[in-house]
Amino acid sequence: MMLAARLSRPLSQLPGRTLSICDRENGTRHTLLFCSASCTPLGHRTYASEANPDGSKAVLITGCDSGFGFSLAKHLHSKGFLVFAGCLMKDKGGAGVKEMDSLNSDRLRTVQLDVCSQEEVEKAVQTVCSSLKDPEKGMWGLVNNAGISTFGEVEFTSLETYKEVAEVNLWGTVRTTKSFLPLLRRAKGRVVNISSMLGRMANPARSPYCITKFGVEAFSDCLRYEMYPLGVKVSVVEPGNYIAATSLYSPERIQAIAKKMWDELPEVVRKDYGKKYFDEKIAKMETYCNSGSTDTSPVIDAVTHALTATTPYTRYHPMDYYWWLRMQIITHLPGAVSDMIYIH
Ligand SMILES: NC(=O)c1ccc[n+]([C@@H]2O[C@H](COP(=O)([O-])OP(=O)(O)OC[C@H]3O[C@@H](n4cnc5c(N)ncnc54)[C@H](OP(=O)(O)O)[C@@H]3O)[C@@H](O)[C@H]2O)c1
Repeated sequence: MMLAARLSRPLSQLPGRTLSICDRENGTRHTLLFCSASCTPLGHRTYASEANPDGSKAVLITGCDSGFGFSLAKHLHSKGFLVFAGCLMKDKGGAGVKEMDSLNSDRLRTVQLDVCSQEEVEKAVQTVCSSLKDPEKGMWGLVNNAGISTFGEVEFTSLETYKEVAEVNLWGTVRTTKSFLPLLRRAKGRVVNISSMLGRMANPARSPYCITKFGVEAFSDCLRYEMYPLGVKVSVVEPGNYIAATSLYSPERIQAIAKKMWDELPEVVRKDYGKKYFDEKIAKMETYCNSGSTDTSPVIDAVTHALTATTPYTRYHPMDYYWWLRMQIITHLPGAVSDMIYIH
């Protein structure tokens, strides 16, 4: 009965939120922050619950050695959060770690954290607990940002590679979330998972990455449903192309992946596709290294909103017009139509 009543609720009674746009001039394209709710441009939103400078709003971010994680750690610190910056290279003295440590702030603490290691994740939970004034009150936020990427058509990609990427992007997210949930539940806090536009739509030669991000989306949706009655809010941020701004790809990394891939290819695949075809694909991939937006602020703004707004959005889409439109077409129109536009 209640379900029938809900389903038959007139549209006018639904919360008045559909789509939001934050327009940023960036390079040749406008980078937008679209969200799956609200008509308010993100830049005009109010941050309903400002971070408490006494450090009660503690947030742990994974993958802070570089890229989004590094910028986000510094940004949230500047907003007054108590930031635990999980770094893969803390013990090895990575450059990002040194820069954050040099701020000498009590509210920005780097923590050794490989999301593939249960032991390191548990140690990070202990570190957070022992730093909180009152661990019984829990921890406000977790941002699952750590990630790696690779490329290669299905026939060029080894099962080992699929597993390696999933270990960080998917199982790392699941492992870290499960370990921090008791603290997050106590604070009725926030989980923000960094997925990707490739977690919503597939792309050729990106299957090892896409499947992990589709997994992050599914995990986030299940968690959001489960946590709703417990007061923990779960958001997903789906960045578009920011390759030029982060360390996800470099020409050296692409060459190293390509060499390993070719060396390990089954003979039948090498013979059928040929080296020329393979090299052309690698050259195309190399052209992506300098592609995309160099301004990561739409991503940083999205995560900040998800952590601070009274009603955070389910999904944030910081991406340019081209990718946003493509994602709408692929996710809303029949496959035959989107295939005709983007594949055939
Ligand atoms: N850049 C884009 O265009 C884009 C688009 C959509 C989504 N994303 C997502 O955004 C997130 C951040 O990536 P980014 O673009 O900022 O690239 P990035 O600069 O390479 O940052 C990823 C970070 O994760 C760290 N990391 C790798 N393996 C880890 C592990 N096992 N445990 C903990 N940390 C680990 C990396 O450390 P090291 O540097 O030491 O390896 C690096 O600091 C990723 O989830 C990525 O999939 C990026």
